[in-house]
Amino acid sequence: MQTTSIHGMWSSRLAFIMAATGSAVGLGNIWRFPYITSENGGGAFVLIYLFCILIVGMPIMFSEIVIGRRGRMSPINSLRELAADAGASKSWMGLGVLGVIAGFLVLSFYSVVAGWTLHYGFLYAKELAGGVGVTDPTANFTGLLASAGEMTFWHGVFMVMTVGVVAFGVEKGLERAVSVLMPVLFVLLLVLLGYGMNTGHFQEAVGFLFKPDWSQVSGGMIVTAMGQAFFTLSLGMCAIMTYGAYLPSGVSVPRVGTTVVIADTLVAVVAGLAIFPIVISFGIDPAGGGPGLIFTSLPLAFAEMPWGIPYGMAFFLLLSVAAWTSSISLMEPATAYLVESTNLSRKTAALCVAGLAWTLGLASVFSFNLWSEVRIGGRDIMSAIEYVANDIMLPIGGLLTAVFAGWILSGKITREELGEKMPNWAYSAWLWLTRVVTPAMILVVLASLLGII
Ligand code: PHE
Ligand code: NA
Repeated sequence: MQTTSIHGMWSSRLAFIMAATGSAVGLGNIWRFPYITSENGGGAFVLIYLFCILIVGMPIMFSEIVIGRRGRMSPINSLRELAADAGASKSWMGLGVLGVIAGFLVLSFYSVVAGWTLHYGFLYAKELAGGVGVTDPTANFTGLLASAGEMTFWHGVFMVMTVGVVAFGVEKGLERAVSVLMPVLFVLLLVLLGYGMNTGHFQEAVGFLFKPDWSQVSGGMIVTAMGQAFFTLSLGMCAIMTYGAYLPSGVSVPRVGTTVVIADTLVAVVAGLAIFPIVISFGIDPAGGGPGLIFTSLPLAFAEMPWGIPYGMAFFLLLSVAAWTSSISLMEPATAYLVESTNLSRKTAALCVAGLAWTLGLASVFSFNLWSEVRIGGRDIMSAIEYVANDIMLPIGGLLTAVFAGWILSGKITREELGEKMPNWAYSAWLWLTRVVTPAMILVVLASLLGII
């Protein structure tokens, strides 16, 4: 059993929590959660999402950390070795390959949206410096989407930022970048929550978010809710597994895993509670949604708030930072694999991964302008990529992860990795969920997606 990884190690339990929370908390919470909640009618969707976090997300979070730490390598190699040790087929490494492919797809559109947040951060910075900033939020956003050049530029800036961190490796790059700015973003969200509570529409927003209208539930909605649970927790594509490989032995997996899940869920809920009162108070139809939701609604509030301009600048720049700490974890699995399995240095490997993801991302950029007519299964290109990656590939990856942790790894290994401090009842609960409940739930949802049930 390896006790360290060749890629380096997190220096402490806290360092892992910061990194894994940095991976989890990102655009998924503040950009995607509000907009897909609005598209899916609120309450019922949110409750199904929370249910998926608990029953599907939590057990898989533990499983990924366990597999990663036991293997101590990139997911592809860890899974191959662990499968071989267990006398199982080496084709389990296919799960790692699936994860790497999903990672490319997610990173490609993620970076485009992170580019939007950078663009907005700089618009406010310009305004602060006396220039023209966000004048008419809807027109500004439409204008940005129409400009392939501008979007490509910011998408590129963001990819360069990401590769800059990944190239320097675990301790010097990743850890330093994540442990500074996350708490600040949370404070800014709390300020926005305070503003939301004073709009006079807080009650309505709470109702929209948590009062379920079960008549709205459909197979498609459940697929979306589960996809969001995977996406927001960074699960199903071996990103957390990769971070787990750098987790020192002796750190309690249930403890760190639970912390990450709670932190991510808290940020999503606070973001929802902060954003919807603003959406409602400015007369935007909360069911209108769309990927532009935060970009067209929040600037209306920033225009009215005292200190709204510097606040808006800080908000969007810190959201870019949150996206940054997530995209780092999207690049790490493929980069670690290239370092292990080729002669490439970490820097070159990271550059190759970023170059490919950036190129793929152009499809998402053009889906709003040059290729806006293109439809794949009724969706525009970026939505189609989001759908295939988040709603299909991540759940399949999660299903295989659960099966691997529950059935392929021996009980001795998982008991050891989950730690003595985990009470027996909790271990049994994890094992039962991981072996039966979680895979069954994912299978049912995937079956509904295929129209089987
Ligand atoms: N969890 C991140 C977010 O919510 C996105 C992400 C998905 C990161 C998958 C890594 C892996 O923004
Ligand atoms: Na998230």
